[in-house]
Amino acid sequence: MRDTDLSETLLHWYDRHARALPWRVPPGDTARPDPYRVWLSEVMLQQTTVAAVRDYFARFTARWPTVRDLAAAADADVMAEWAGLGYYARARNLLKCARAVVSDHGGVFPDTRDGLLTLPGIGPYTAAAIASIAFDEPATVVDGNVERVISRLRLVETPLPVAKPEITRLAADLTPALRPGDYAQAVMDLGATICTPRSPACGICPWMDPCEARATGVQATLPRKAPKTAKPVREGVVWLARRGGQWLLETRPERGLLGGMPGWPGDAWDGSGGEAPLDADWKAIGEVRHTFTHFHLILTVMFADTSGNPRRGDFRAVTGAELPTVMRKAFDLAKVVPR
Ligand code: ADE
Repeated sequence: MRDTDLSETLLHWYDRHARALPWRVPPGDTARPDPYRVWLSEVMLQQTTVAAVRDYFARFTARWPTVRDLAAAADADVMAEWAGLGYYARARNLLKCARAVVSDHGGVFPDTRDGLLTLPGIGPYTAAAIASIAFDEPATVVDGNVERVISRLRLVETPLPVAKPEITRLAADLTPALRPGDYAQAVMDLGATICTPRSPACGICPWMDPCEARATGVQATLPRKAPKTAKPVREGVVWLARRGGQWLLETRPERGLLGGMPGWPGDAWDGSGGEAPLDADWKAIGEVRHTFTHFHLILTVMFADTSGNPRRGDFRAVTGAELPTVMRKAFDLAKVVPR
C-alpha cells in the first residue's frame, strides 16, 4: 500500500471511530479546536492516560476557561488543582507558558510548530501535537502510541530508544498534507484502543493487511525496548502533626521532586531519619509506598497530636485534595487516628 493510501485508510477509520474527547473537535466538524484546550490536554496527557486526565481537564477549563484566566491565576491554586496528576514541574511550566503567551503574544498561541517551540515547557512532542491538531500543520507527532503503531506497521525491530529517529522518519513519511491533525489523533486512538501493548486487536484494525509485524506474527513483541535498569528503593520518614483541626505542612522547594507542592516535614528520604519538626509524643502509624520515575519510596509515617510550635512549616487546614499523591497517602493514614 502507498503511504497516501495508508493515511486515507486510517482517516476513514477515524471518521467512524474517533473517541469523543472534551478537547477534541470531532471529524467532519468544521470548527477549529481551541489551541488553549489542545495545549492544556497535551501537557496533561504526557505520561498519563486519557481516563486520568478527563476530570482534571474539566476542572481546569471550568475554573480557567482561557489562557488569560490561567495566566492570572495564583500559583498555589494551579498547583492545588494539579495535585494528584504527578510531574509537578509540568504544572509550574504550564503557568510559565500561559504567562508567556499573554505577555509576549497578546494572549494568542503561536500558530506554527517553530513558534510554539519558543514557549516555556513546550518541547518537540507538544509543539508538533498542537501545530497539527490545532493548526493543521503536517508536523510529525511521535508519542508512545505512535512508536508502537509505526514500529509494528513497518516492522522496526531495533530497540528503543535507538529506533526513535528511524520511527520518526517513518512516521513523517506517512503524515498526510490533508487533515494532518485528524491523522495524528487517529494514530493515537489506534494505539490506545486497538494496537495496544500486550494483546492488539488485529482482527478489527484498519491497518491489519499492510501491517508487516502482523504478517510475521511478532506484533505483540514490538516495539522492542532496551532493558530497563531496576529502580532503587529509598526509605524515608514523614512527620504528621495535628494541632486542633490543622496540620503541619511545608511548601517544598521550587526545584526538585514535588517542587512547589505542599508536603509533610520529613527527612531527605535517604534513610537518615532526620529530625522531627517539633518535640511531641510521636508514634509510627504505618507505612506508605509510592513509585516515582526514578525510584521506589517506602515512607514511615509518624503522627502526633500537639499544641506546640514547629521549628519549620506552618499549621493549615487540609482536605487532602491539594496534596501530591504520596503525601495524600500518608494523610489517609493519619486523619483517621482518634483524638
Ligand atoms: N494522547 C495524547 N494526546 C492525545 C490526543 N490528542 N488524543 C488522544 N490521545 C492522546
